[in-house]
Amino acid sequence: MNPLFIFLLAGAIFPFIIAEPVQDKQALLDFLQHIHHSRSLNWSRETSVCNNWIGVTCNSDHSRVIALRLPGVGLRGPIPANTLSRLSAVEIISLRSNGISGSFPSDFAQLKNLTTLYLHFNNFSATLPDFSVWNNLTILDLSNNGFNGSIPPSVSKLTHLTILNLSNNSLSGDIPDINIPSLQQLDLANNNLTGIVPRSLERFPSWAFSGNNLSSKNSLPNAHQPSKKAKKLGGPSVLGIIIGGSVLLFVLVALLMIRCHSMKEKEHEFPTQSHKKEVSLKKKASENHDKNNRLVFFEGCNLAFDLEDLLRASAEVLGKGAFGVTYKAALEDATTVAVKRLKEVTSGKREFEQQMESLGCIKHDNVSGLRAYYYSKDEKLVVHDYYNQGSVSALLHGKRGEGRRPLDWETRLRIAIGAAKGISYIHAQNNGKLVHGNIKASNIFLNSEGYGCVSDIGLAAVMSPMPPPAMRAAGYRAPEVTDTRKATQASDVYSYGVLLLELLTGKSPIHATGGDEIVHLVRWVHSVVREEWTAEVFDVELLQYPNIEEEMVEMLQIGMSCVVRIPEQRPKMSVLVKMMEGIRRANMENQPSSETKPETSASTQIRHAAEIVPSSSISA
Ligand SMILES: *[C@@H]1O[C@H](CO)[C@@H](O)[C@H](O)[C@H]1NC(C)=O
Ligand SMILES: *[C@@H]1O[C@H](CO)[C@@H](O)[C@H](O)[C@H]1NC(C)=O
Ligand SMILES: *[C@@H]1O[C@H](CO)[C@@H](O)[C@H](O)[C@H]1NC(C)=O
Ligand SMILES: *[C@@H]1O[C@H](CO)[C@@H](O)[C@H](O)[C@H]1NC(C)=O
Ligand SMILES: *[C@@H]1O[C@H](CO)[C@@H](O)[C@H](O)[C@H]1NC(C)=O
Ligand SMILES: *[C@@H]1O[C@H](CO)[C@@H](O)[C@H](O)[C@H]1NC(C)=O
Ligand SMILES: *[C@@H]1O[C@H](CO)[C@@H](O)[C@H](O)[C@H]1NC(C)=O
Ligand SMILES: *[C@@H]1O[C@H](CO)[C@@H](O)[C@H](O)[C@H]1NC(C)=O
Ligand SMILES: *[C@@H]1O[C@H](CO)[C@@H](O)[C@H](O)[C@H]1NC(C)=O
Repeated sequence: MNPLFIFLLAGAIFPFIIAEPVQDKQALLDFLQHIHHSRSLNWSRETSVCNNWIGVTCNSDHSRVIALRLPGVGLRGPIPANTLSRLSAVEIISLRSNGISGSFPSDFAQLKNLTTLYLHFNNFSATLPDFSVWNNLTILDLSNNGFNGSIPPSVSKLTHLTILNLSNNSLSGDIPDINIPSLQQLDLANNNLTGIVPRSLERFPSWAFSGNNLSSKNSLPNAHQPSKKAKKLGGPSVLGIIIGGSVLLFVLVALLMIRCHSMKEKEHEFPTQSHKKEVSLKKKASENHDKNNRLVFFEGCNLAFDLEDLLRASAEVLGKGAFGVTYKAALEDATTVAVKRLKEVTSGKREFEQQMESLGCIKHDNVSGLRAYYYSKDEKLVVHDYYNQGSVSALLHGKRGEGRRPLDWETRLRIAIGAAKGISYIHAQNNGKLVHGNIKASNIFLNSEGYGCVSDIGLAAVMSPMPPPAMRAAGYRAPEVTDTRKATQASDVYSYGVLLLELLTGKSPIHATGGDEIVHLVRWVHSVVREEWTAEVFDVELLQYPNIEEEMVEMLQIGMSCVVRIPEQRPKMSVLVKMMEGIRRANMENQPSSETKPETSASTQIRHAAEIVPSSSISA
């Protein structure tokens, strides 16, 4: 037979076998053979490196490996020389959250196409390399290692750099002039750097340099803690507006109506369409009212509580929580407010007013503002903004099944980031002592930018001891609060962690399975992750979105760090904000490369995620 014919025949029959980067495959096998790893990777010589190897991504024609992502797989020891450096087409390397030690792999200098290098949270030591070789590098994260020596001036040759994170190492000496216009994020905190911040870097916030021994010329005298201090709102920003008797009359009418209504209403965390029994407020007025009690509006509140409008308004039960029932009051001019009727307020009038006035000062994009409050012997009301998309709880759990619009990953991430910012801001109030005390999905809404926004602030303080929560809400409560009945910032962090797990799993904090079994979300997630079937953790609705597996796993790890049993071990809210924004940043990095990635089904990627959860995150 003609040899050419055989060649053509072979090419036609075995095209898939031919399309494989054989040399890259060998380089990866050599790497794995020479490094200790505590979790098994299914890198088999017999299977296709491009389709079947966890953490490996090839280019579209399967001729080269272009990305290697092995976060948290328990790699230990130095990176073996002359292995990964042979992946000459690789663009993304992520080996973060392992235990890799030794010096920076000098042969990475051969990886000219490298754009993203994540080596943070390892045990690297010794000095940083000469950076001038990687002119394509856009993201470099070497934070949380043991690098020492000075920052090489060659770093300024990285002209495409957008993110540089060298924080939490042992770098010393002066900070070189890093004049890279594309640089957007810089973090040199927690090193041993001296001298001054060069002019080229003065545009970065002071926390980027904190925890060093820099001289005070740049007004950074011996800053040892990263601090993004919230700007203080000065002066009495609360103005009690005295409303005439006519409005007070209305309030009493409204109260009466609300009371009648609520007696008929069954307890529902979020009412479905059928529960929206509208009640006209235009009923008969009550005569007996206490002249000393008034609806108090906060400054900047331009709500037109016009009596005529209000009398035509209708109220509808929005939800019922531990602190009371919330109603939606819709005015005819399309203004809508949420009115919460508090039950079991234990604090006196003065104390209540003081608390409300301090809450009235809180103005932040991610905190739902208080509009007004009302206190009388029998009734305590707070009026706040109404969000027409409903609470995160309703968005996440409402109308599962046919006709439901799934809550996409982007939205969930924005909810989590916004909520973190809101809670962090709340925690910075009252000299850093304010506690929310009731973080849960039904208290988080979407603000106009689509980010999470926290409502129900500070009510825990006027309701102590805290009332026992409704069943679903009990799942948010930190274990120590059950005994002490006292919420703390650390218990807020716990509740926030439950919210993250809820966003990831699509499951309520406490829910029933098919049988009568009651499942606690936190325990369930722990058991699933411990059994290493992490893929099962994620909400099926999320399976349709490509390239989010790393982000989901990262959020899972953050969520689990919040729900640890010991309050002192939970991260601070301000730290969580940075961690959550870190997920977002990784997301930006993923997008450009996604075009070159081969099509992989979402479920395959979820299975990838299952294998990259580091065992260290499983702290029950
Ligand atoms: C290896 O694991 C990945 C992700 O779990 C999976 O997609 C792939 O099919 C596995 N390969 C083999 C040969 O089992
Ligand atoms: C580096 O990337 C460029 C552009 O994507 C590509 O043309 C080139 O072949 C790559 N280099 C190697 C060694 O693969
Ligand atoms: C990192 O190194 C330190 C000491 O150098 C050691 O105590 C620690 O266990 C190492 N961590 C890992 C994850 O290997
Ligand atoms: C990296 O830089 C080289 C030289 O500047 C360029 O030829 C190559 O295309 C770049 N690679 C990528 C992936 O951008
Ligand atoms: C740098 O990395 C540390 C930990 O690895 C992280 O806490 C910090 O937020 C990062 N800095 C920036 C600017 O992203
Ligand atoms: C950096 O650390 C290594 C050990 O990891 C040590 O031998 C070396 O002296 C240190 N260099 C500096 C400049 O501190
Ligand atoms: C910095 O490193 C220390 C010890 O390695 C660790 O305890 C600390 O959490 C790290 N800080 C950050 C912000 O990651
Ligand atoms: C920082 O430098 C001081 C003295 O220069 C040294 O004692 C200290 O151990 C260094 N800290 C770190 C984290 O390297
Ligand atoms: C900070 O630097 C000054 C001199 O620049 C030195 O005297 C001092 O010991 C340093 N402090 C630390 C903690 O390294």
